Amino acid sequence: MEKKKDIVMSGIRPTGFLHLGNYFGALRNYVRMQDAYTCYFMVADLHALTTLRETRELKQHVRRVLAENIACGLDPDKVALYCQSHVPETAELYLFLNMLAYKGELEKTPTFKDKVRLQPENVNAGLLTYPVLQAADILLHRATLVPVGKDQEQHLEIARNYVNRFNQRYSEVFPEPYAFNFGEDLIKVPSLDGAGKMSKSENQMATLYLADDDESIRKKISKAKTDSGALAPGAPMPETIANLFLLLKLVRPQDVLDKFQADYQAGTIRYGDMKKELAEGMVAFITPIREKAEHIRNDEAYLRQVMEQGAAKARASAAVTLQLAKDAIGLNYF
Ligand code: TRP
Repeated sequence: MEKKKDIVMSGIRPTGFLHLGNYFGALRNYVRMQDAYTCYFMVADLHALTTLRETRELKQHVRRVLAENIACGLDPDKVALYCQSHVPETAELYLFLNMLAYKGELEKTPTFKDKVRLQPENVNAGLLTYPVLQAADILLHRATLVPVGKDQEQHLEIARNYVNRFNQRYSEVFPEPYAFNFGEDLIKVPSLDGAGKMSKSENQMATLYLADDDESIRKKISKAKTDSGALAPGAPMPETIANLFLLLKLVRPQDVLDKFQADYQAGTIRYGDMKKELAEGMVAFITPIREKAEHIRNDEAYLRQVMEQGAAKARASAAVTLQLAKDAIGLNYF
């Protein structure tokens, strides 16, 4: 008999444009996992409602995120690619998990505290129970592997708490989920202004988006910081320069990297040339993804079919789990 594949689950919030950090931190791993595991990848549209009061753009965001996932190589025939709101079983499991969720624990969560700071006028209960909904997404498929970045570690720990409380209070239904990243350090995709990582919302000039056109890519890279004055011999490489090398490594072969490294050591490096190399590497990398995503985004019939097919797979898995959960809780009277 064929060994049962481990179950993978992850989600992306449709609140902004996907960028290079999303690609190397998440999407690329999804694509690498789709053949070896049973995968559920979700657009977290309900989670988006915890911060979005204006939902007019939601439809465009959801379609774009789906299209970009497929353009990056995710195959909707191999994985379940779906929208959270199309799987109402999520809400039911979320309700059960709320009885295992302690207010104090949720209030301590760093992501909650951040949001309170960012939107003090809208500290809604959905924001507080954000990790409960995320746990429901994962436990709904009894997934054990969750390809996410470091910032999600706390949410996974909370999900494991609910697993243990549920299994102890009722009976053993759920396995513990863990973050997964192919045993490598998570790749850091630095921003172009030398400060932190590329991000959905911060400085748009310092982030390369999968939807950026060629001219924007070239312009952003030409404006990247390199000027850090004269260096003492043997001084460590400034972070802005190290960042350019990190980015170059993502899109250009090793021999190109070696050449600029050697130039740097010799003190003959021309940052203008390096940026040109980086810009052309990024254009060559992003253009096919952007064009493919655009094409998919405009094919409404195809996108609808992808969503329906994804929702059907996710709901089939959810129904089995929910029945097990209800039986365990004792919500079965005949
Ligand atoms: N909270 C995640 C983020 O902000 C998105 C998410 C929602 C998610 N549900 C999930 C991630 C389930 C992994 C598993 O990135």
